[in-house]
Amino acid sequence: MIHIEPTAQVLGATVTGVDLKHHLSNGDLGAIMRALGDCGVLRFPSQILDAKQLRDFSARFGEIQILSASKYVEPGVPEVTILSNIVQDGKPIGSADAGQFWHTDMTYNAGHRVGFVNVLVAHEVPTRDGKPLGATEFTNTQAAYIDLPEDLKRRFADATATHDINKQWEWLVNVKKSPRAPLTQQERNERPPVSHPVFLTHPISGRKVIYVNPSYVTKIDGYSEQESARILEPIFEHILQPKYRYLNHWTLGDVLVWDHLGTWHNAVADYGPSEHRLMKRCQVMADRVFDKAFIKDTLAVQ
Ligand code: SIN
Repeated sequence: MIHIEPTAQVLGATVTGVDLKHHLSNGDLGAIMRALGDCGVLRFPSQILDAKQLRDFSARFGEIQILSASKYVEPGVPEVTILSNIVQDGKPIGSADAGQFWHTDMTYNAGHRVGFVNVLVAHEVPTRDGKPLGATEFTNTQAAYIDLPEDLKRRFADATATHDINKQWEWLVNVKKSPRAPLTQQERNERPPVSHPVFLTHPISGRKVIYVNPSYVTKIDGYSEQESARILEPIFEHILQPKYRYLNHWTLGDVLVWDHLGTWHNAVADYGPSEHRLMKRCQVMADRVFDKAFIKDTLAVQ
């Protein structure tokens, strides 16, 4: 039977009693969905899924994004992306710098095609002196909303902000000197800048979240980029306070599922080229979690 043990921290729970290689019952899916709304980050220990099993499990949460800009995908399973610093025969086997910045996935997509969950399987975890490296760090934007000054909540209650994939991509290429190529005009045309509410109601918890992030947001609509930065920077600092943060250290065979709508995350790049990290990932969109009928039915099943 599924068992969900929340951490005593601001995010996180460990989920046991379920085998993710097999089709999930509706009851287990409902329990996992409820836990995502409450705990944000769910760790399923000892679950080595192959690429197809990872895809099939992830697809229970919604449509999986396939990015034409990513060349590191699992052969025959384009929904699964490879994140790794391993180089074989002189060629990288995966994207070495994915997610190494504070962000929420896919907020550059329009409407409900923004990110709902990421699902990662840990195939290799770097260690040094017996300690795991390459953690993934999170911050809780539901908790951070509660403590936001009331005047800010009122002022931006109905505001929207512009999100652009190219902002973070250019930063990676120009500032971080990432080996990835700049986005082509076609790739930029596929994902033009889009607007989303500054504050969102979480479709599972029903609580408000702060839905702006430093990687993709270029401005609050109706304000200049300069004025937006003046407003947003203190909000970002507020979200990054230690009291909202949670550090996930990986163990080989972990599956981690996290809710993008109520968190930001950052992949901690504290390991060297010979300290190998290999993760396989699906990025699931929020089409299904914003479908009121689906979510009502899913959450109702015990
Ligand atoms: C991501 O942003 O999806 C990558 C997270 C990680 O590799 O820890």
